[in-house]
Amino acid sequence: MFWVVWSSESLSILTRLNNRPSTVAHLETDSLTSLLLTSQFFVKPVPPPDSTSFVGKTALISGSNTGLGLATARVLLQHGLTRLVIAVRNVEKGERAKLDLRVEFPGAKIDVWEVDMARFSSVISFAKRANSELERLDVAILNAGLIKPDWALTGDGHEEVFQVNYLSTALLSILLLPILRSTTRNADSVARLTVVSSTMGLISEFKNRHAHALLKSFDEFDTTKTWSLQDVSDRYAVSKLLGMMLVRQLAGAVPSKEVIINAVDPALVKSTGLQKSMPFPARLIGNVLGGLAGRTMTQGAWAYVDSVDGKKEESHGRLVRNWGIDPGHPMMNTDDGKKVEEKLWSETIEELDKVAGVRAILGL
Ligand SMILES: NC(=O)c1ccc[n+]([C@@H]2O[C@H](COP(=O)([O-])OP(=O)(O)OC[C@H]3O[C@@H](n4cnc5c(N)ncnc54)[C@H](OP(=O)(O)O)[C@@H]3O)[C@@H](O)[C@H]2O)c1
Repeated sequence: MFWVVWSSESLSILTRLNNRPSTVAHLETDSLTSLLLTSQFFVKPVPPPDSTSFVGKTALISGSNTGLGLATARVLLQHGLTRLVIAVRNVEKGERAKLDLRVEFPGAKIDVWEVDMARFSSVISFAKRANSELERLDVAILNAGLIKPDWALTGDGHEEVFQVNYLSTALLSILLLPILRSTTRNADSVARLTVVSSTMGLISEFKNRHAHALLKSFDEFDTTKTWSLQDVSDRYAVSKLLGMMLVRQLAGAVPSKEVIINAVDPALVKSTGLQKSMPFPARLIGNVLGGLAGRTMTQGAWAYVDSVDGKKEESHGRLVRNWGIDPGHPMMNTDDGKKVEEKLWSETIEELDKVAGVRAILGL
């Protein structure tokens, strides 16, 4: 078991373990090693308090057929969640998860809805369905994500990890705002939107951040060259940093009394599916690290529940990590980083407005 299971981010760990500290435009970020040492060995995972209640509430979790998404569904249901939407790209896998959950939680209403984050059209159809069929949406956890050993463009013309982990996550976040806002208006608590990030995002070098056409630069690669292990690691890491920037910009556009929006880092969690697509040596090392120090999926789910329930307005626009509010990537607190973030946001809105008219939803 020890050798077989996990480690979600083993490849990244393999390629970065000796960066200490890493240098990002003259900023010293903590090394992955020190960040992980703290979270894995010195932070005790905290379960949600017994008083936590999702009775009467509806939650939607993308990528919840397996891994952290499924574990989080289970914890929410343990705390009385009334309705769950399992949002998955493969409905058959989602139905299998639903069968298991129905045995454990026969009283809950559980739906499986299709959403493929690698296709804008699928994200748009899914959001339309959520806005028209759900009476309320109290909690949306945008958890679907991947790491990929090879370079590939989606049918929408974007590099796949960039689209799934960032662009489609941004699109879905914005398209769910109407139902989240209306839930807040009609309920006695504020609806929640949480984007799943990663410790890897905190050490991203974001090398292309000064590219003239920033979004486009993620989709350009000379395919006569090899997409290296370092490229794989960098791409995943930057996609998770972009998610943190997205959350801060969204929180600037949406007041916390309408929807509380934050990001969460579950830290290193063992036994999830991310490692499956990794090349052998990285997977092996990841298995060792995960076996030694990985959180369980339930503990990772506790971190998610802390971000959607434990933390309140103070987390709006911020990263929830290790059961506290994290200062985030040092770059995000520099003038240069803020300019990059604004450019990213403006290009993102321009792109997403073409596919789904997001400006009107944001009142821009
Ligand atoms: N495990 C960790 O240590 C760790 C640490 C930090 C952050 N995270 C983040 O936690 C999240 C969950 O990861 P996990 O560790 O639980 O891995 P996982 O078991 O591989 O789960 C990933 C989920 O995302 C779904 N997904 C991937 N591409 C998708 C697409 N195009 N459309 C819709 N769904 C898609 C997967 O669906 P399929 O089953 O169909 O592939 C799966 O349900 C990810 O965002 C990951 O980056 C994980």
